[in-house]
Amino acid sequence: MITYKENERVFQLDTPNTTYVIAVVDDENFVGHVYYGPRLKDSDVFYLMRTEEPPFVPSKNNRERCSFYDCFPFEYPTGGVGDYRESCIGIRTAAGHVGSMLSYVSHEILNGKPELKGLPATFGTEEDCMTLKLVCEDKYVGMQVELLYTVFQDVDVITRSVRVTNVGQESFYLTKVYSACIDMDNKDFDMVSLHGSWARERHIQRKTLGYGIQNVSSFRGESSHQDHPFLALVDKNTTQENGEIYAMNFVYSGNFRAQAEVTQFDFVRMTMGIHPENFCWKLECGESFQAPEVVMVYTDKGFDAMTSTFHKLYKRHLIRGEYKNKKRPILINNWEATYFKFDTEKLLSIAKEASKLGIEMLVMDDGWFGKRHSDNCALGDWTVNEEKIQGGLKYLVDEVNKLGMKFGIWFEPEMISPDSDLYRAHPDWAIAIPGRPGTESRQQFVLDLSRQEVVDCIYEQVATILRSANITYVKWDMNRQLTDIGSYGLPADRQGELYHRYVLAVYQMQDRLTKEFPYLLLENCSGGGARFDPGMLYFSPQIWCSDDTDAIERLEIQEGTAFIYPLSTMGAHVSDCPNHAVGRSTPFETRGIVALAGTFGYELDVTKISQEDRDKIPEQVAMYHKYNDLVREGDYYRIASYAQNHKYDCWQVVSADQKQSLVTFVQVLCKVNYKSRCILLKGLDADKRYKVVFENDDNVTDRVYSGDVLMKAGLLVPAPWGDFQARLISLTEVE
Ligand code: DGJ
Repeated sequence: MITYKENERVFQLDTPNTTYVIAVVDDENFVGHVYYGPRLKDSDVFYLMRTEEPPFVPSKNNRERCSFYDCFPFEYPTGGVGDYRESCIGIRTAAGHVGSMLSYVSHEILNGKPELKGLPATFGTEEDCMTLKLVCEDKYVGMQVELLYTVFQDVDVITRSVRVTNVGQESFYLTKVYSACIDMDNKDFDMVSLHGSWARERHIQRKTLGYGIQNVSSFRGESSHQDHPFLALVDKNTTQENGEIYAMNFVYSGNFRAQAEVTQFDFVRMTMGIHPENFCWKLECGESFQAPEVVMVYTDKGFDAMTSTFHKLYKRHLIRGEYKNKKRPILINNWEATYFKFDTEKLLSIAKEASKLGIEMLVMDDGWFGKRHSDNCALGDWTVNEEKIQGGLKYLVDEVNKLGMKFGIWFEPEMISPDSDLYRAHPDWAIAIPGRPGTESRQQFVLDLSRQEVVDCIYEQVATILRSANITYVKWDMNRQLTDIGSYGLPADRQGELYHRYVLAVYQMQDRLTKEFPYLLLENCSGGGARFDPGMLYFSPQIWCSDDTDAIERLEIQEGTAFIYPLSTMGAHVSDCPNHAVGRSTPFETRGIVALAGTFGYELDVTKISQEDRDKIPEQVAMYHKYNDLVREGDYYRIASYAQNHKYDCWQVVSADQKQSLVTFVQVLCKVNYKSRCILLKGLDADKRYKVVFENDDNVTDRVYSGDVLMKAGLLVPAPWGDFQARLISLTEVE
């Protein structure tokens, strides 16, 4: 619900449990941020603007205008004229000048949510949401800035985005454009972010917020393994179940900066947007720039509530397509099974064995095209290598289909190998600083997707393959980050647009792909999980989480991923042991139980694993079919974190009607002489009675407990014998 009180010039934005208040202030129409927090009954909170305190507003004290600029809580702060905190927007005029200041001009309140041209964004019907469009202007620059706020009626989310238009007589440059800002009092916050590296993505990090600027960011051209486009400011005492959280997540897949700045007055400015490093966008007269969307979540009910809000939003209002609410086929991917050493015969031998065990799709990974026998060549040459794929792709796909299995294929469309026919024909199609030797990574360069002819050529190659056989799944990979930011196609004054144009082109290609092949299950991937972000989720309902498939390493990676993203989105496979990333051996059963929390599949040579392990696959397949609806659609709760307690991990999903639940317990190292562990379950109906079954432990007798008891007194999980053991515990309502 969005309301405007004309006399006070105050906007009130309400979600079911939160309120956000904006005010237009003083004669010069500054747009101030008044309040964001628990839902208010009315918006009589203008006093929070502190306009009656020194330095007052300019109309009452123009002498200290600069001090006013430097402490006023702006909705969308500018720079260069007196606010010394981080600005949200930077411009450079044709004359080379940089200052700007925005004032309110007009507004519109709409039902529904406008699309953001060329960009992924959350969506909703006219019943689902309302949008406030605040139009502001800097008449000296000739710049109009539209601030868009969408309020969802069914989840506690407000989304923000910004559109900048040149309404003046001369072109100017945008040198920075963030998408959201919250100026508020610092409540002794901690800062929570997701940090990582290749094969160690999205580990939750919490630290004290101090004075000055603290940020997480990427200017690697993608959201990255290292930092994640997510930031939360949380009360010192916030726990899983209680406490305040202000969270932001960026619906974007390129450079970003998420920042908190604690000021001299103990105010905090929280911002999120495209990273300004090497960003410079020329706006000719009449042209606009649309900045991507930020999702804002506020709760005073701890991390469980924050997570549940993000999950609901993304499941209902971001993920699209055929598989939005559907069980995904159980796949077997040949990457860890064969790496580049495979041919038709090998793939068919895997498929034959896999089909007998109940696996539903074969995915042919890297190495099927051009002269690709290792990772040092052929990217860009998307034609089938018939020396490896003897009989051709259609033959292979048909044979796999005859086994009753679907077929999926791997591409890395954004890349070009120096040793490729494409590079030999078009060396200027790689991103490069002309005249400077390019920096190779995995012996490859990144394609200059700011050039439409490059996009069209690659899209056509990919689509030709997909049109040639019955292929129903694509894994879209991206195995290096951007460097040497330069384009042979862009003029000098538009080179600063390359990073963003690149991301827009990736979106354009995936949009075309999902429109031409609407039945396709698309799984995004970037050297594991470097581009696991809401921008990619708009195109693919699942994303490969990490190249680390070890069940124990996955606990922390999947915990951090599920902190914001639904379990249905997390690509998770059972792989062989010793694990290729860490050399650890874990029970096959545990690997299955951990992968069941995600999309579920296999990444091993099923013809080579032990008979004992092979025999377990049909049981795991049965568990997947029995519980995947619950895992995909249910509410997720974090019960215990191995990353925090260094002892065991535990999570739970509960169906919307609270009739069913599944608990996953992973005891990491076995400790001798311990008693059973008591875990407090969550999300159950206190008045219902549940039959509790330890699915993989015959020593525990099935018993019936009330939801009340399970949530308050807890459930005893007997300590399993041996390292890396896991338990899958189901709860079903009994009359
Ligand atoms: C990185 C991916 O994460 C892997 O699963 C695999 O597809 C390789 N790339 C192939 O090069």
